[in-house]
Amino acid sequence: MATRNAIQEKVHRWVYGEEAFQRLDESDDAVFYQKDRFVSHLDRTALETVEHIVGSLIIEDSPVILDLMAGWDSHIPATVKAAEVVGLGLNENELLRNGALSRYVLHDLNADPNLPFADGTFDVVLNTVSVDYMTRPFEVFGEVARILKPGGMFLVIFSNRMFPQKAVKIWKDSSEEERIFLVEDFFRSVPDFGEPHLLVSKGKPRPADDKYAHLGIPSDPIYAMWAEKKGAPKGRRKRPVVELSAGRPVSAEELEARKRQVKKTLQCPHCGERMKKWKVPQTPFTEWDNEFMYICFNDACPYLMRGWSVMESQGNRGFSYRMMYNPDRDVLLPVPVPSLGALKESIVEEA
Ligand SMILES: C[S@@+](CC[C@H](N)C(=O)[O-])C[C@H]1O[C@@H](n2cnc3c(N)ncnc32)[C@H](O)[C@@H]1O
Repeated sequence: MATRNAIQEKVHRWVYGEEAFQRLDESDDAVFYQKDRFVSHLDRTALETVEHIVGSLIIEDSPVILDLMAGWDSHIPATVKAAEVVGLGLNENELLRNGALSRYVLHDLNADPNLPFADGTFDVVLNTVSVDYMTRPFEVFGEVARILKPGGMFLVIFSNRMFPQKAVKIWKDSSEEERIFLVEDFFRSVPDFGEPHLLVSKGKPRPADDKYAHLGIPSDPIYAMWAEKKGAPKGRRKRPVVELSAGRPVSAEELEARKRQVKKTLQCPHCGERMKKWKVPQTPFTEWDNEFMYICFNDACPYLMRGWSVMESQGNRGFSYRMMYNPDRDVLLPVPVPSLGALKESIVEEA
């Protein structure tokens, strides 16, 4: 008899369309992942964010953890003292190299979404930068709920990088925001999961020594969605609200006070860093008639970091803006930037 998970999977295939969970490369996953990939799937800043999220959300003492679709790094910080960490994946050499694991299981989720574990085995199931490869996600999410203890957490972390030949069509065809709704739908399809929670970290500066730093793009975005299996023991501690913003948030009053002071301080009201003198390029299209502006070139400025998402939501993907001060008119205004490196060539070094 078909299980409830399998029936749901069929219904969702019908809702999403038969092609939604197909891939360009439909060959055996075990063969594709036979190749060892001892690479980082995210830049260092994004990896630190992942560890911070994992470490903050695991509140259990001595948790039993499953790393679902594990590679050579489980992103579990040393502060988490796990009783056991089981890795489930496809590449044995990577799993052998993974120092966090107590043991591992080779299992192809797309061939068989039934997880080889008893009901209520785990306190935490982690799935990092891999949900895009699930061809039967509704069944897998249902299985995760089955193997979690009541109150246990399923934490799904994703970004925007992928192996395009193995990512499912709907993932590739979706925007980053749409992918959030997709993962939310996977969670909500399982009645045993409680309310899903979302964390987003976008726009942090990419480390200067990262292999993609020359592109001037910010650190890889991190989306983390988690939900608990219903039935947590009464009185159990709640999982915390994870702080992801860089630096101390500025209150609205402080922001206004700083804006009034800019003429005197030349400090960016959003991050407090001194703005740099910037020579206005003289082109036939330049709208400003003054020779110099002051621009905040802090790559970790919250105004710039938020800007990538705001611009994307307005249809301007790949753009953000920096805070600029026009000293002649005594006004602050946003200046759009297509990369972290943009405009920097016209900084005027001051003695
Ligand atoms: C991008 S890597 C991410 C690895 C690891 N979770 C991390 O955060 O570094 C994708 C992982 O998913 C695993 N994987 C891909 N398809 C799978 C499948 N059908 N069944 C089980 N694991 C799979 C691969 O073994 C690979 O390690």
